Amino acid sequence: MTDQNSIDQLAADLKSEFGRLDILVNNAGILYDTWQSASNANLDTVQEALATNTLGPWRMCQAFLPLIRQSKAGRIVNVSSEAGSLASMGASTPAYSTSKAALNAFTRLLAAELQSTGILVNAICPGWVATEMGGAGGRPVADGAASIVWAATLSNDRPTGGFFRDGKPLPW
Ligand SMILES: NC(=O)c1ccc[n+]([C@@H]2O[C@H](COP(=O)([O-])OP(=O)(O)OC[C@H]3O[C@@H](n4cnc5c(N)ncnc54)[C@H](OP(=O)(O)O)[C@@H]3O)[C@@H](O)[C@H]2O)c1
Repeated sequence: MTDQNSIDQLAADLKSEFGRLDILVNNAGILYDTWQSASNANLDTVQEALATNTLGPWRMCQAFLPLIRQSKAGRIVNVSSEAGSLASMGASTPAYSTSKAALNAFTRLLAAELQSTGILVNAICPGWVATEMGGAGGRPVADGAASIVWAATLSNDRPTGGFFRDGKPLPW
């Protein structure tokens, strides 16, 4: 997600093998930084979170859009987090929360730009999931993934530029 050459290579491989891309899920995310606050955050850490969580999906979308435009039902799913919701933002996880709020903004921008193309671009929050990042106690991975599958398989008349969990809108 952070290596432009690697992304470009994958786009070139997909182009030569398939000629189009129907679904892009930007799932990779890092640095749930519970150990720091906005006032004392290590800005190298903030930059690292932005590079992966915000610019990673942005790079992926730029690289793959030409292939997604070849699809009859292109779908882009940016895996965000309610931690990036400005409406409910608290004091914790400053690098992560900022990077996800910016990812949500990018989602809105791209969805608006692509409004007339039929390509749907949405952000989803999988909820608290028991992965390496989420740790024990979260919901099963399949339950978190269901939100992604929902957004990846929306029919053509469905929303774009939204923020959802379990198929229901979340406040920005
Ligand atoms: N778990 C939760 O409770 C929760 C809640 C809300 C939102 N989310 C979001 O859900 C998504 C998935 O999180 P998760 O819980 O599965 O996290 P995770 O268990 O920490 O897994 C993160 C994944 O991202 C990959 N990754 C990290 N940096 C990458 C890069 N530069 N390029 C490519 N892949 C990279 C990792 O690959 P490697 O293993 O190879 O490093 C790993 O597969 C993230 O966007 C996260 O912010 C999670």
